[in-house]
Amino acid sequence: MCGIVGYVGAKDCSEVLVSALSKLEYRGYDSAGIAVFEDGKIRIEKEKGRLLDLQKKMESDGVPKGNVGVGHTRWATHGVPSSVNSHPHRGGDKVTLVHNGIIENYKELKEQLIAQGRVFISETDTEVVAQLMDMNYEGDPEKAIAKTLAQVEGSFALGILFADRPEELYAVRRESPLIVGVAEGESFIASDVPAIIKYTTQYYLLEHDEIAKLTHEGVSFCDLEGNSIEKELKVADWDQEAAEKGGYEHYMLKEIHEQPTAVKTTLTPRISDGMPNLEECSITLDKLKDINQIYIVACGTAMHAGMVGKYVIEKQCKVPVIVDIASEFRYRDPLIKEGDLVIIISQSGETADSLAAMRLAKKMGAKTLAIVNAKGSSIAREADMLIYTHAGPEIAVASTKAYMVQISVMYLLAFELAFAKGEITKEECRRLTDILLGTSANIEKTIELVDGDCNTIAEALTEADSLLYIGRGLDYALSMEGSLKLKEISYIHSEAYAAGELKHGTISLITEGMPVIAVATQNALYDKTVSNIKEVKARGAKVILVCDEQAEVGADVADFIIRVPRIEEMLMPMLAAVPLQLLAYYASVRRGNDVDKPRNLAKSVTVE
Ligand code: M6R
Repeated sequence: MCGIVGYVGAKDCSEVLVSALSKLEYRGYDSAGIAVFEDGKIRIEKEKGRLLDLQKKMESDGVPKGNVGVGHTRWATHGVPSSVNSHPHRGGDKVTLVHNGIIENYKELKEQLIAQGRVFISETDTEVVAQLMDMNYEGDPEKAIAKTLAQVEGSFALGILFADRPEELYAVRRESPLIVGVAEGESFIASDVPAIIKYTTQYYLLEHDEIAKLTHEGVSFCDLEGNSIEKELKVADWDQEAAEKGGYEHYMLKEIHEQPTAVKTTLTPRISDGMPNLEECSITLDKLKDINQIYIVACGTAMHAGMVGKYVIEKQCKVPVIVDIASEFRYRDPLIKEGDLVIIISQSGETADSLAAMRLAKKMGAKTLAIVNAKGSSIAREADMLIYTHAGPEIAVASTKAYMVQISVMYLLAFELAFAKGEITKEECRRLTDILLGTSANIEKTIELVDGDCNTIAEALTEADSLLYIGRGLDYALSMEGSLKLKEISYIHSEAYAAGELKHGTISLITEGMPVIAVATQNALYDKTVSNIKEVKARGAKVILVCDEQAEVGADVADFIIRVPRIEEMLMPMLAAVPLQLLAYYASVRRGNDVDKPRNLAKSVTVE
């Protein structure tokens, strides 16, 4: 998964490409590069490292001058992050391209190409496509692209320059996302809308195996047989400011602060007359009534949102829920029956494993419901039913506001399902929905309340080699997310454990001073969790307790207490999530890490 961009227009192409790439670095940041037609010839500038490293290199080399070009930011899959493996790649004299995705049969193709005398300089699968395209090019770009696509297998989006066509840019995709933006006298390609939002809000979604041709005269589309295609012009509702840091030191902090608005914007249009109403998402009470089994399939944080959903749906609706990691689900022969509901949760809507799991579920006769943030993404487009979360662009690799809106939708769905199944009355459903909507204000209050404490307490985490998150029930589901957040941005090892399970082995890890973050917001389980806290405390743990403002905490229970407002017990994860996010954030800042772009990661995981 990488980010690709391209530009044709009157502006300084290098400047546009670098600006667009800066919005795509969340997709990968192992290396960056651009290729621009300069005086009729393609000039490539690329460098290992961040976009900033490329910019520095170009300061000394000189920035390519021209009006047509492509750019790339990489998350390495084939071959180490290095200058030579960076994109753009030349295929020979005729073709230069950038690529996002994976060419599955690149080894066979490479062997064939070598046998035909081709010489490779990089370890990438991309160079194989470039060489193949170069071989296939006989003056007709569309034909060369079609011929190449007939030979390659996998997922990819390509931005292609043909050396003898200095006024043209071509793009094509299969599986990997790609949009084509248009404005007066100029056009763009990009992996995602935020990359070009500074220049235009108008764009086309390129479909599988469609070819786009961008020239100074405009944009045209055709299929692999060369038949021209009319496409619907879309208008993005994300503005530039939403994709910028807006005065915050990091995107992650900004996104934590955007949670109250994100929750409100997501829920409000789905509530009418105080009741959940998901009809615009093709979800009716009649459809819900017939559901007897639910699978929630997702990856990472989105899967953790599914864990919260499981606890809530099973309790409220009495419908069994299985939560599956998408990469496991797709290969474990799941026992899906016709009529089961499979819910796919994804911020990006492009996560390869989640997309494949959804396709499998559909094939097996299940109804699929996608909960997705990125508009027009693959998962959104292919699901039977769709609930868009309205978190706006999430740029930080560590997901915060997307998680918050995902769990808000889980609750809303659970309340409607419980009502449809006759498990709760209309009055109860209204009451719960009202409290859910009110979480927006409570999240805001929580951020104000806990921010300072989290910053201070994070100091106690920074020197730790390892720590534990413990909780029971919903607090356990939330602990999983807290633990992931901390690991991915602070690089401190942590595990989330069901508090009651500790004494079956894991408690042996506790040593003097080891931090344990205990989440205890569920009344019925509170005393039991406190007993488990005392067990770790007795063995030297330094306990950080997250509980509600009314909890009675004995003097010997915790070293630090973080209190959040008390609301309906079931909805407490929406508030308790905030201190867990902030602890991770401040721990990462204190350790001097790159908070928004943690090592080895990328925002959108479009490879298996
Ligand atoms: O775009 P998705 O929601 O499908 O992404 C799933 C995971 O890759 C993602 O949540 C990942 O775990 C985040 N880095 C967590 O902060």
